[in-house]
Amino acid sequence: MNVYEALASRRSVRDFLPTPVPGAAIRRVLTAAARAPSGGNVQPWHIDVVAGERLDALKAIMQRRLREVAAGDTSERPEYDIYPKELVAPYRDYRFRLGEAMYAALGIPREDKARRLQWFARNYQFFGAPMALFCSIDRRMGPPQWSDLGMFLLSVMLLLREEGLDSCAQESWSIYPHTIAHFIGIPPERMLFAGMSIGHRNPDHPVNQLVSERAELSQFATFHGV
Ligand SMILES: Cc1cc2nc3c(=O)[nH]c(=O)nc-3n(C[C@H](O)[C@H](O)[C@H](O)COP(=O)(O)O)c2cc1C
Repeated sequence: MNVYEALASRRSVRDFLPTPVPGAAIRRVLTAAARAPSGGNVQPWHIDVVAGERLDALKAIMQRRLREVAAGDTSERPEYDIYPKELVAPYRDYRFRLGEAMYAALGIPREDKARRLQWFARNYQFFGAPMALFCSIDRRMGPPQWSDLGMFLLSVMLLLREEGLDSCAQESWSIYPHTIAHFIGIPPERMLFAGMSIGHRNPDHPVNQLVSERAELSQFATFHGV
């Protein structure tokens, strides 16, 4: 697999087979991903990997947590805004179209808020994946170091393809920062950025047929003297 193929074959997988992921594979991937660049080589990422009984325990905690939230518990606040308060065009449209395409693939109509919410809650069961990771960063770091996290996480997702594995990055975990911090022991000086579900895609699930759109090259790139 070359880099173009790894990029083309990576997509956010939202239904996984229960097939376990060997610990050796994720250790190889994280070791190689640490070659990702970072400004000043500060390497600001911290990764927690969770699988097996610990993952089952976390899934059970999240089921309870979502029930508490549904019953009106507002004790936990997201640590950061996942999107700007006002998401303007064209970004708003891209986001809208992704949501529509995903719920169309699932056969859940726009008005069926209950089923959409139920589907969203599957984030907190890692879409059935047998392994997950969480990425956190020292709170004193700024936007340049946060962009380093992105480079690291994409490296992980591409290397997972090389291992025959799939993934879904999940900012949705940032909505429950204290639950996760308590569970995996993130110290107060570090902040949770995102989680990631890891495993083998279920090729038969309709949500995994979704291929998200991309803007045309001319919409996001300007060439000067090229
Ligand atoms: C940092 C990051 C966080 C994301 N968080 C979520 C999430 O919480 N839940 C989810 O279903 N998808 C999540 N996604 C997946 C995006 O929706 C997806 O990458 C985008 O729609 C493009 O589709 P593709 O990954 O299949 O190419 C996230 C992606 C990134 C890069």
